[in-house]
Amino acid sequence: MNKKTTVNWAILGAGKIAKKFATDLTVVTNAQKYAVASRSFDKATSFSKEFGFEKSYGSYEEMVKDPHVDAVYIAVPHTHHATATKLCLEHGKAVLCEKPFAMHANEVEEMISIAQSKKVLLMEAMWTYFLPHYQYVLNFLKNETFGSIKSLEADFGFVAELDPSSRLLNKSLGGGGLLDIGIYPIFAALSILGMPKKINATAQFFETGADSVCEMNFQYNNDIVAKLKSTLLEKTATEATIVCENGTVLLNSRFHEPSTVTLKSNDGTTETLDFDYTTIGYNFEVAHFGSLLLEGATESPIMNFELSRKLIQLLDTVRSEIGLQYDI
Ligand SMILES: NC(=O)c1ccc[n+]([C@@H]2O[C@H](COP(=O)([O-])OP(=O)(O)OC[C@H]3O[C@@H](n4cnc5c(N)ncnc54)[C@H](OP(=O)(O)O)[C@@H]3O)[C@@H](O)[C@H]2O)c1
Repeated sequence: MNKKTTVNWAILGAGKIAKKFATDLTVVTNAQKYAVASRSFDKATSFSKEFGFEKSYGSYEEMVKDPHVDAVYIAVPHTHHATATKLCLEHGKAVLCEKPFAMHANEVEEMISIAQSKKVLLMEAMWTYFLPHYQYVLNFLKNETFGSIKSLEADFGFVAELDPSSRLLNKSLGGGGLLDIGIYPIFAALSILGMPKKINATAQFFETGADSVCEMNFQYNNDIVAKLKSTLLEKTATEATIVCENGTVLLNSRFHEPSTVTLKSNDGTTETLDFDYTTIGYNFEVAHFGSLLLEGATESPIMNFELSRKLIQLLDTVRSEIGLQYDI
């Protein structure tokens, strides 16, 4: 029998991010746009038509029963990540689940445990990690080309629409800046510096109780500090700056998506690297995930379970520092 060379993708939740993801699926050679599942059949059908998927389902439950679905991209609000992921895993579907992986560490553990017992591939869709400019910086810092790291600063901010029912403000959908965008500066600190020894954080809140601004200090050995911020009240640079002994590395705006990198040496030379991106940037994680699935892998060697566990642990710790609680 010929070895399978493409993955039949299904999208679960036909919302905003699903559209961007579907656009980038087109360029991935090991990906087939197969199915769309929505709570509304009409919505699924119009999404399928717009983006060229073969099948449309009016419920998530129906879609997971389709034997031709290989992998599911979970694109629903954070509060629904764990339930949707478990539904897919129980039906033997590989899962690429949007960030944050789930609402808290217990949910993440449960998802990982099901994936492991079912021997099904599961990965958090931390797309930034797979972007070439981001990987370039990680390697540059690992090689200590500018010497050791002294400090890191990263932010993510934009002005959110003040609609209390929206996903960003509604706590019953996991609303708040920390889980939605604060995760990116936190991931920058985690992927570059590892786990901090101490965390301090302060926050401001909307009337809904969702966090509007969150400022965090991660402290590491050798007096290294990462200063991180998320805000839904102002547009910020959305950059990451890493100061090293002999120079500064800048992940330029917006650092979490396809962007450029500037290397400023302390001897006065400055170089900006352009990575010639031609997509929104989701194709890199999709290609990686597809290769893993076709090889029969059940965990990514890059965005692995250990890293997802650390990421949710950091989010949980910051939440506890700022007193942010959800019902779930
Ligand atoms: N990686 C990235 O760059 C990126 C960017 C933005 C968002 N995200 C993540 O992707 C996830 C979805 O974000 P989004 O902006 O696409 O959200 P969204 O458009 O507000 O909602 C996504 C979809 O979730 C489904 N859904 C299921 N239960 C729902 C409920 N109770 N209320 C509302 N919608 C529900 C709906 O799909 P149906 O009606 O079709 O069932 C909805 O269209 C979030 O976890 C977010 O963190 C990632």
